[in-house]
Amino acid sequence: MREESLSGVLLDWYDRNGRELPWRVRDPDATPDPYRVWLSEIMLQQTVAATVCPYFERFVELWPTVRDLASADDGLVMSEWAGLGYYARARRLLECARVVAFEMDGLFPRDRAALESLPGIGSYTAAAIRAIAFGEPAAVVDGNVKRVMARVHLIEGEPASASRLIAEQAAAMTPRERPGDYAQAIMDLGATVCRPRNPRCGSCPWEADCLARREGVQDRIPERLRRPGKPLRTGTAYVARRDDGAWLLERRPDGGLLGGTLGWPSSGWDGRHRGPPCSADWRSLDAEVRHVFTHFDLRMEVKIARLPAGASVPAGRFISSESFDPESLPSLMRKAYAAAHPFLRRNGETADAEG
Ligand code: ADE
Repeated sequence: MREESLSGVLLDWYDRNGRELPWRVRDPDATPDPYRVWLSEIMLQQTVAATVCPYFERFVELWPTVRDLASADDGLVMSEWAGLGYYARARRLLECARVVAFEMDGLFPRDRAALESLPGIGSYTAAAIRAIAFGEPAAVVDGNVKRVMARVHLIEGEPASASRLIAEQAAAMTPRERPGDYAQAIMDLGATVCRPRNPRCGSCPWEADCLARREGVQDRIPERLRRPGKPLRTGTAYVARRDDGAWLLERRPDGGLLGGTLGWPSSGWDGRHRGPPCSADWRSLDAEVRHVFTHFDLRMEVKIARLPAGASVPAGRFISSESFDPESLPSLMRKAYAAAHPFLRRNGETADAEG
């Protein structure tokens, strides 16, 4: 049958060309750890593998089991997550770890409905966990897999019916043997060979069978919808430093943009219209911070102020110079720090060796 020989060819390709990634188990006799599979899949939602690798290694070093993660301090997890973006994912990661650790005896379920009822696990992630951690022949269908299926089987047309056909083909091609390796193989194929633009058909194990390639239309499938430009939002970040070196930060409310993270008091861009966090001689910097969110582009003005050593601000939190680590800020806030720091530097402090 065509599907079986295609999946066999892909598995052979994966054995020779699959990427070495820290969450992968290549030894056929070793059993994957569902915690590591789950953690990697949550990190890989919306983030490319190369970015995820150091975060994954750090998380499993700090929290080697789901029970360790479940008992972790929320603020520490959020700061270790900083830079991966989409902070709601980090909050759901912790919620999920706590349900699994405290209500499921530390064991991830293998059943689809039970997995999908956990925070942060949708149908794609549930399928990936079932296939990779438990060897179930579950079909993973994400954007990469959809593109590969649409090309190999030349599926075009109206999105709803195309989606159904794509899901059917993805299920038909998933083998009963080595479904976890097959899932990872097709992810690698989509990421490294069957790329959105300029697919490397000459390196593809399915080149001879690919119907889009046969017709010479692989570049046009799937059809790209022209997206309207993203809206532009503006706002202001307030970066203040006390004379004793402490920085004025604020924990953002849970939910909403960058929810639960520690950052500069700010206003406007997130729909919250407030003035500065305290009265001070606020000065506007010439520099503008730019950041791209999923649904809008942001331009943020940065205002800075120096505050006297004893100052306190009810809604804020002063973090001493020794305890402050700009790396633990979300990227947007790190950009505002980079713009402001040269103007708030203390004697002997350099941009690199920040205390
Ligand atoms: N993208 C999502 N899951 C992945 C995995 N397990 N390996 C590589 N890329 C992925």
